[in-house]
Amino acid sequence: MHITVVGTGYVGLVAGAGLADFGLHVVCVDKIKEKIDLLNNGIIPFYEPGLKELVDRNVANGRLSFSTDLDQAIRSSLVIFIAVGTPSRDDGSVDLSYVEEVAQYIGGCIDDYKVVVTKSTVPVGTNRRIKEIIDGKCSGGAFVDVVSNPEFLREGSAVEDFMRPNRVVIGSDSPKALAIVKDIYRPLYLIETPFVITNLETAEMIKYASNAFLATKISFINEVANLCEKVGADVHHVAKAMGLDKRIGPKFLHPGPGFGGSCFPKDTMAFASLGMTHSMPLKIVEAVIDVNNRQKMRSVEKVREILNGKPKGKTVSILGLSFKPNTSDIREAPSIVLVSSLLKDGMKINVYDPAAIKEFKSIFKDKISYCNDPYEASTGADVAVIVTEWNEFRNLDLERLKGLMNSPNMVDLRNVYDPEKTRSLGFNYIGVGRGNS
Ligand SMILES: NC(=O)c1ccc[n+]([C@@H]2O[C@H](COP(=O)([O-])OP(=O)(O)OC[C@H]3O[C@@H](n4cnc5c(N)ncnc54)[C@H](O)[C@@H]3O)[C@@H](O)[C@H]2O)c1
Repeated sequence: MHITVVGTGYVGLVAGAGLADFGLHVVCVDKIKEKIDLLNNGIIPFYEPGLKELVDRNVANGRLSFSTDLDQAIRSSLVIFIAVGTPSRDDGSVDLSYVEEVAQYIGGCIDDYKVVVTKSTVPVGTNRRIKEIIDGKCSGGAFVDVVSNPEFLREGSAVEDFMRPNRVVIGSDSPKALAIVKDIYRPLYLIETPFVITNLETAEMIKYASNAFLATKISFINEVANLCEKVGADVHHVAKAMGLDKRIGPKFLHPGPGFGGSCFPKDTMAFASLGMTHSMPLKIVEAVIDVNNRQKMRSVEKVREILNGKPKGKTVSILGLSFKPNTSDIREAPSIVLVSSLLKDGMKINVYDPAAIKEFKSIFKDKISYCNDPYEASTGADVAVIVTEWNEFRNLDLERLKGLMNSPNMVDLRNVYDPEKTRSLGFNYIGVGRGNS
């Protein structure tokens, strides 16, 4: 079977390479020529563990290719996956212009039957709109069935998540299209992956409800952490004991600087916006967004607090920029709010990240200093802030770090270090939700 994947971002590239690995012939198309040139030269445009090996293997066996020629790719494929971006508009609703542009294009160039599968995260009703757009443009014997197949992969473990998903959701009104898409995922039956086969609206809703629930767990534990700080409780013990209750589960109960990334912030806003559109406000989701925005500002307050309210002229070492470890993605990362605010406070800023320096430079340019390792970033610093829990920050030589710093202040926004041990080394230490720290 021949497949086109439109969009070679995190989702499109991982899905395209994964589907090729399932034995299908896949063309990944992007409108950015530079991205396609990089891919054709064996270079992955972003950092994602295991992806290069997967791409290389499938390019070498002739099942995976890259192109800017969408027309040609569509004509030679039975199935077209849409994996383009769906960013937020200023009012929180979803900008569907990229998705609609692809639908227009498909409608304009097909001349027989195609299955159009939406992997992009889109609000309920969008797949029907995609079909309307395509039907309105195509002629002759051309027609499409649409399928909603939301993607649940996580950046940083995207390849593993795609190849071994917790579940596959497939929604459509067309038994023929359902059968074709189920067949695409046939290799996953062998590893007993659960499939949820449903209608379009339900499949679209599942994606938003899932992300909103995960975001709720994060905002919930962040609020609990903030209260722990006031009352002398340790949020780690609270979260551990909560997580041991099988009805709650231990995942996503880690306090920190608030969630970021390309999904939770925009998907919670889109979900809340969908609720408003249907006069069914999602009060919990709205609160989750509000708590998250405030949590990002709490991190700024912690830096100010450890500097006794006098940040101006001081130097901060920011350790970790990506929104989570093992990715170069900085979209909506808490580091952006932190650095912007501390710049306004008049601080000098040194940053280090194992993968996301290039991305950060594109925003902050020469306003801050980019360093090659955590020690260089902390040299002469008045405070070191751990923002992302990359593995390499878990075992820093704290004696060395302290010796290089101007003042031994640490704000640990990921609770990587033990407060007592760190204090016993001579640091002033502030974590998240750990007793009176
Ligand atoms: N990133 C994630 O972890 C993740 C996880 C699950 C779902 N999603 C969803 O998947 C979708 C894609 O996310 P992403 O992070 O991969 O986005 P991305 O921004 O990394 O990539 C989107 C790509 O689509 C390309 N594109 C846009 N319009 C195009 C067109 N007309 N023709 C060809 N290419 C076009 C862009 O150039 C870009 O390379 C979004 O809806 C997102 O919410 C993302």
